[in-house]
Amino acid sequence: MRLENKIALVTGAGSGIGQAIAETYAREGARVGLADIDFDRAKKAARAIGNNAVAMRCDVTQKSAWAAAIEDTLSAFGALDILVNNAGTTHVNKPMLDITEDEYDRTFAVNVKGVFFGCQAVVPVFRKQGGGVIINIGSTAGLRPRPGTSAYSATKGAVHTLTKGLAGELAGDRIRVCAIAPVATETPLLPSFLGPQPGMREKFIATVPLGRLAVVQDIANAALFLASADAEFVTGNIVEIDGGRCI
Ligand SMILES: NC(=O)c1ccc[n+]([C@@H]2O[C@H](COP(=O)([O-])OP(=O)(O)OC[C@H]3O[C@@H](n4cnc5c(N)ncnc54)[C@H](O)[C@@H]3O)[C@@H](O)[C@H]2O)c1
Repeated sequence: MRLENKIALVTGAGSGIGQAIAETYAREGARVGLADIDFDRAKKAARAIGNNAVAMRCDVTQKSAWAAAIEDTLSAFGALDILVNNAGTTHVNKPMLDITEDEYDRTFAVNVKGVFFGCQAVVPVFRKQGGGVIINIGSTAGLRPRPGTSAYSATKGAVHTLTKGLAGELAGDRIRVCAIAPVATETPLLPSFLGPQPGMREKFIATVPLGRLAVVQDIANAALFLASADAEFVTGNIVEIDGGRCI
């Protein structure tokens, strides 16, 4: 088991990629905190994992919610080794002139401020423990944006830059910081990325050299590697899990 005795906190773990990461970590021996703004979903996902999981209500845009999530993880498991900043949202695929201020603000708040607050909340714990791993979920949208995703893509560009900046700043504390950039992945968020026009799914797939969209386990496998001792010399990377889309 690759994460034996490790303790992880995964945000947005009630659905999609975050849920798959939490399940994979637990299967590999970790104890896992599942944080989500949708507490019912987090509870359901934690129940499916069993005794090694605890659900928590957490809106990542709120500093106070972060303090509580870290506290809850520490009181449940006594330590914290891995933070996965996965919670994210998007506006529906649409022309840039149609994106409202509310959509812009919400997307930046969850995807960028939420990740930044998460890093701020966990670094003192990691420093005290002598190290840790932060994995931020970015996107190929932040590397090779498609039309209709302008504000969302900008948030993921920010996540990638934040990842590299913090990797340099925190390396001396033995804190590794990496990002994963998934291509379009089969989750409940996918229809928003595709947009309402017919044929978008096929168009997306046609731009992926390996000829399919990602599934959540593709992303969870990368998150497992990055969290494990196998990646002890890996930091500051944006790991594309994209079937070659960004070539
Ligand atoms: N699905 C894709 O095609 C794709 C591609 C690249 C990157 N991503 C990224 O992967 C991550 C996970 O997305 P997903 O596709 O699994 O989506 P999802 O909608 O299945 O899951 C996202 C989860 O985040 C939670 N969440 C939303 N706002 C939150 C907040 N403020 N605080 C806490 N939790 C919150 C939701 O309740 C939900 O459970 C996101 O960061 C997303 O941008 C997704």
